[in-house]
Amino acid sequence: MMELTHDHLPIHLTDLGQRYGSVYRLKCGKTTMVVLNSCEVIREALVKKWSDFAGRPISYTGDIVSGGGRNISLGDYTEEWRAHRRLVHSALQRCCQRSLHGVIERQALHLRKVLMDYQESAVDLSEDFTVAASNVITTLAFGKEYDKTSPELQELHHCLNKIVALWGSSWISALDSFPLLRKLPNPVFACLLKEVARRDAIIKQHLNSYKAQNKINEDAITGFLLQGLDKHQSTESGELLTDVHVHMATVDLLIGGTETAAAWLNWTVAFLLHRPEVQTSVYEELCRVLEGRYPKYSDRHRLPVLSSLISEMLRLRPVAPLAVPHRAIRDSSIAGYFIPKNTVIIPNLFGAHHDPAVWPEPYSFKPERFQEGGGGSARFLMPFGGGARLCLGESVAKIELFLFTAYLLRDFQFVLPQNECSLPDLRGVASVVLKIKAYKVVACPRP
Ligand code: HEM
Repeated sequence: MMELTHDHLPIHLTDLGQRYGSVYRLKCGKTTMVVLNSCEVIREALVKKWSDFAGRPISYTGDIVSGGGRNISLGDYTEEWRAHRRLVHSALQRCCQRSLHGVIERQALHLRKVLMDYQESAVDLSEDFTVAASNVITTLAFGKEYDKTSPELQELHHCLNKIVALWGSSWISALDSFPLLRKLPNPVFACLLKEVARRDAIIKQHLNSYKAQNKINEDAITGFLLQGLDKHQSTESGELLTDVHVHMATVDLLIGGTETAAAWLNWTVAFLLHRPEVQTSVYEELCRVLEGRYPKYSDRHRLPVLSSLISEMLRLRPVAPLAVPHRAIRDSSIAGYFIPKNTVIIPNLFGAHHDPAVWPEPYSFKPERFQEGGGGSARFLMPFGGGARLCLGESVAKIELFLFTAYLLRDFQFVLPQNECSLPDLRGVASVVLKIKAYKVVACPRP
């Protein structure tokens, strides 16, 4: 248990990997966990033997935050889950094709305006990044954008952030490992229950007002999902998917899609402050290749310097550093070790991305490692996991990270505030999402 309460768990598990090898076991109460620390063993479990390891641990607290396991990220691998994931996946694919590019472009231009309005003052941009990423998702989900000051948006964020933070706390995880503790008063758990109820009330209100519209807009994901339910029910096994699945998928998209992309942008700006010459070379490439216009996602192959920056950031700071725990559905093996049914598997993506056997100087920020013949190592990157549980928002995230970064670096030079003598601390704070500690930056408009 002590091993799991470390303040930077991914780094700690990576250090243990250096000592005990790429596969080792931890005991936590009655639960046995196996930690995987290299790309090779993670691939073996998640991709090659996906059908053995596609489960999620069934837990008391997980059930509470996931509507009884009926969301995608925490739901166990069942027929119902597969139908749910398929439906949401096709909704996302459809909106990637139809509207995603435009939605992100609008948000990127809006972000540009917000940064311009700061007039080169020193600011913490984390909230602006969160609003931008969140607006991409709420526009996709409900066809609705928010202002930073909107009480609706603030309430939603506050509540989702709190759920993620509380759920990651040892006060809560202890309830899964030591059932007797559930009989004792636990104020942190009471708070979690309250936030989950609040989250559900907010989402329900959104969905109801959405359904009350005369004509359901199928361009928004929730519209497509609600229509999809009818089709699904008439074609497959009766009442498999219901409104609850649409509700929980909305929670999945909001949680999965907001803090991840926002944290990633915040990390990227901080690393660029450490190596300003990388920022200059991305800017020069954007000017040279695009000749003044804004980029499209289809330009990415003509922008190798920008693409290598994105890859290096995904390597160094995979924002979901320990993915989401998996569960062995049946007896299996990894790297020749016997893995009994129900073992919890922790894919340490952070560890795999810092494996010195694959990445020379793994802790250094060197985007150039992905250029000049180094592109081959890109196949060892797995920030989105893999196999049956591959991040559902991978395509959305890739387009989003590319366009936001390109728009920001085309229009601004990020510099350290004049009165600030120390660069941002790059160690970070790891919970479910790996975030950087707050720092201030100046965004100077490019000529
Ligand atoms: C799951 C990474 C953005 C939705 C995951 C997992 C990882 C991940 C590592 C766990 C995979 C596993 O269990 O093996 C990331 C990164 C992102 C990002 C690095 C951006 C930088 C997004 C976005 C969305 C999203 C934008 C939604 C639009 C989800 C969902 C799951 C998931 C729903 C659960 C999938 C399942 O259990 O089947 N993500 N993600 N993610 N992600 Fe993402």
